[in-house]
Amino acid sequence: MDKVNKRIVLVTGATGGLGTAMCKQLNKDGFHVIANYRDKSKAEAWQKKMKDEDIHIDLYEADVTNYDSVGTMIKKIEEEVGIIDVLVNNAGITRDGRFAKMSKDDWDAVISSNLTSVFNCTRHVINSMINQQFGRIINISSVNGQRGQFGQANYSAAKAGMHGFTKTLAMEVAKYGITVNTISPGYIATDMVMAVPEKVREQIVAQIPMGRLGGTHEVAYLVSFLASDKTNFITGANYSINGGQHVY
Ligand code: CAA
Repeated sequence: MDKVNKRIVLVTGATGGLGTAMCKQLNKDGFHVIANYRDKSKAEAWQKKMKDEDIHIDLYEADVTNYDSVGTMIKKIEEEVGIIDVLVNNAGITRDGRFAKMSKDDWDAVISSNLTSVFNCTRHVINSMINQQFGRIINISSVNGQRGQFGQANYSAAKAGMHGFTKTLAMEVAKYGITVNTISPGYIATDMVMAVPEKVREQIVAQIPMGRLGGTHEVAYLVSFLASDKTNFITGANYSINGGQHVY
């Protein structure tokens, strides 16, 4: 494959609800989009659906919780496609439950999928970004990392951890033309949110001044905005997108 001359973006957890919307928007806005996945058959079916909509997306496999697996994927992408210009750390899971009942497994799984993955992916792209004096790191956090959420001690801790990571890395790499920002979506209409028991979800929506869940495309616009070459001076920031659910 010839190396591409468009900006290259890697989206982790790309085949989920938010990831899919991001890939579509980034493709529309002229990026060469690479989707990271874990489940091959799900990813191939997803890629085919995209192709039917005339959207070309490359697929690359890695377990983002595994440092070496990510390293192998990034090396392959650099050889086959080119240096990653934009990394969207989007992969994440929930294992909700009251802390008094939370298992060590549920804690570890959420911290490694949502936070250690951010280290794993960013660490493997950062030096190439430094060498080329350009980069965009976009970390997808959550309103629940800002304000806490009953039943999400693990998830809130991981999502809050992203803010410290973003702020520190932003300071360290600003001089190389690399920006690092966090987006904190509120409740968006994804499978993850639809898995919340209906009664609980209704109570949550009632707390959102906009009176509805967010759309995945609304988060995707923000990702593409931060990924653009025009946002050089925005770094170390957190963008809330929650319909007014949490204002501070
Ligand atoms: N505030 C206060 N008390 C609450 C509560 C809340 N928000 N939610 C539950 N409780 C209380 C119940 O009233 C009940 O109390 P009593 O025992 O005194 O009656 C008790 O907690 C129930 O506890 P259980 O351990 O029996 O738990 P459960 O099986 O009922 O489930 C839960 C609890 C897992 C927290 C469930 O309520 C739930 O799924 N909540 C939603 C969590 C959530 O918002 N997750 C977001 C997922 S989407 C996402 O994360 C994307 C994003 O970034 C926004």
